[in-house]
Amino acid sequence: MGSAVRLTSAEAYARALELLPGGVNSPVRAMRSIGRDPVFVVRGEGAEIIDVEGNRYVDWVMSWGPLIAGHAHPEVIAAVTAAAGAGTSFGAPTEAEVDLAAEVVERVPSAEMVRMTSSGTEASMSALRLARAVTGRDRIAKFAGAYHGHLDGLLAEAGSGLATQGIPASPGVTAAQAGDTVVVPWGALPDGELAAIVCEAYPANMGLVLPPEGFLSELRARADETGALLVFDEVITGFRVGRGGVQERDEVSPDLTILGKVIGGGLPAAAYAGRRELMERIAPAGDVYQAGTLSGNPLATAAGLATLGVLDEAAYERLDATTERLAAGLRAGAADAGVPVQVSHTTGLLTVFFSEEPVRDYDDARACDTDRYAAFCRGMLDRGVYLPPSQFEAWFPSLAHSDAHVDRTVEAAGEVLREL
Ligand SMILES: Cc1ncc(COP(=O)(O)O)c(C=O)c1O
Repeated sequence: MGSAVRLTSAEAYARALELLPGGVNSPVRAMRSIGRDPVFVVRGEGAEIIDVEGNRYVDWVMSWGPLIAGHAHPEVIAAVTAAAGAGTSFGAPTEAEVDLAAEVVERVPSAEMVRMTSSGTEASMSALRLARAVTGRDRIAKFAGAYHGHLDGLLAEAGSGLATQGIPASPGVTAAQAGDTVVVPWGALPDGELAAIVCEAYPANMGLVLPPEGFLSELRARADETGALLVFDEVITGFRVGRGGVQERDEVSPDLTILGKVIGGGLPAAAYAGRRELMERIAPAGDVYQAGTLSGNPLATAAGLATLGVLDEAAYERLDATTERLAAGLRAGAADAGVPVQVSHTTGLLTVFFSEEPVRDYDDARACDTDRYAAFCRGMLDRGVYLPPSQFEAWFPSLAHSDAHVDRTVEAAGEVLREL
């Protein structure tokens, strides 16, 4: 099916450039920072994607995190297909939304109630509105290099696509919005009268930069001392670094949690969650307004439930083993080739920083050799391995990645690193 004559990626991109700003619907897909045109994808199978020209790649992007079960996982597809057959959206409650909320509450230690949204950006925006309503304060502290979605107030010193393009703050953000944001280096404790301290519990949008020992507990204490709410953005880490995210793994309890990606299993869903007395401020239980035509959409809810359904203890052991094998192989390959790198990893997340020094914060990440990363990334693409086309992103191992995928990746990396 489809048209008999298929465009090449270059032709598809030329057409896209006429119709979509930068040829893409989200900046980091464009591959500009590695000096390449993007690959146009036609299908995904497990841990692999196939482009319009029929080239096959081992995929370490995995839609930037949602596909922890792999592309087109049979149980996810069956659940979405069944849901679609029963109607794609009602704008009225369904039992499956309550089932998904129950799964979140059961897994995420600090979550007692959940509100679903369609994107992580919306969930961040709404959680911060709630924090401001609860505390009666305006200012929010965020960390340099962290990305919480494209909401106006949090674009300052943001990671991900802004870091990739070197955009320190976006035009179009009002002075008042920027003035309500305090940016702190990762590893430092924010001061002052704040509505919220928001952090990526394990920052992954400047590449993966794990917190210093005990830092998340220090943040908890600082929030308590100053009357701020502690908000963990677990859009990436939630249901990925472990069943209950970072908060379960590191035993630090935030007031509010932002969730996304895995919760929608590859369809548009996200959520924010927290203690009952906070969440009951949300309309219609309370006075803080937030709504969404497609929030809790039946297809997204079905995909999320099916994805969480495959995430048992054994799944996390496997994901951890896969990530360990990948990290060890990449470290050994870089050492062999004499290329200085820092391989940062945790269960289901990894970044290869081209740096001689450990990467502890956004300044360290920005000091990495991004030209070398770009050359590495291009070389890997040429060998059928699809990596995040930016130094300021994490790789996303999944349950579909086999040892063979890891070994193929490590072998290709060894070749490319020796050529650098
Ligand atoms: C930590 C984090 N928070 C929030 C977001 C925003 O989510 P979305 O892209 O669904 O709006 C992202 C997206 O990558 C993210 O990585």
